[in-house]
Amino acid sequence: MIASSIQINQHLAERLANDGWYVGESIFDAELSARLHDRAYELAGGGALQPARVGRNMATQTQAEIRRDDTLWLADQPEDAAERAATLAVTSLRLALNEALFAGLRSAELHFARYAPGTFYRRHRDRFRDDDGRVITVVFYLNNDWSPDAGGELVLYTDDGDSVLTRVLPSAGTMVCFLSERFPHEVLPATRERLSLTGWLRRDERDT
Ligand code: OGA
Ligand code: MN
Repeated sequence: MIASSIQINQHLAERLANDGWYVGESIFDAELSARLHDRAYELAGGGALQPARVGRNMATQTQAEIRRDDTLWLADQPEDAAERAATLAVTSLRLALNEALFAGLRSAELHFARYAPGTFYRRHRDRFRDDDGRVITVVFYLNNDWSPDAGGELVLYTDDGDSVLTRVLPSAGTMVCFLSERFPHEVLPATRERLSLTGWLRRDERDT
């Protein structure tokens, strides 16, 4: 059975409250995931995605050893219809979490990410020392027909980093959500291009 996004939001809030993380059905339907895939693919082809930065004030050299994906931030009010639909769905999720968990989430930031074959993001946490605004990480995978042999899993670790909580294939229709401060995680290299829309629900208004 396909759940409505309202049902998914509720289930997701429960999982976040109980475990601090959720992996499961996406709040984006198949059509929206496909439109976002095509949008990311087109933007990447036009060179709009650029090497991602880790934190702020870090040497480019060091960053390339940690992460090798290319990203593009979405505008707050995107012109593209698929980006707008995604932004709206994320806003609904944010408000649902505020209602269910008194989460106090005031804004969201979203970027497309493209991992070329062989690229990775080493184990890290998502809250930067110089930016504590990120509360919840959300990742929406946009890849059709992802076979387990292709790699590219997200590996989510326990708080102490000692054991693996779960491994997630980056397949369209799957989303991941977790407390940004709590769980170390990494992206393993893949044999094919890996596209996602990734974002953070924040406790503050963004300063853009
Ligand atoms: C990130 C990240 C995970 C993923 O962008 O910070 O960890 O599965 N992404 O793409
Ligand atoms: Mn991360």
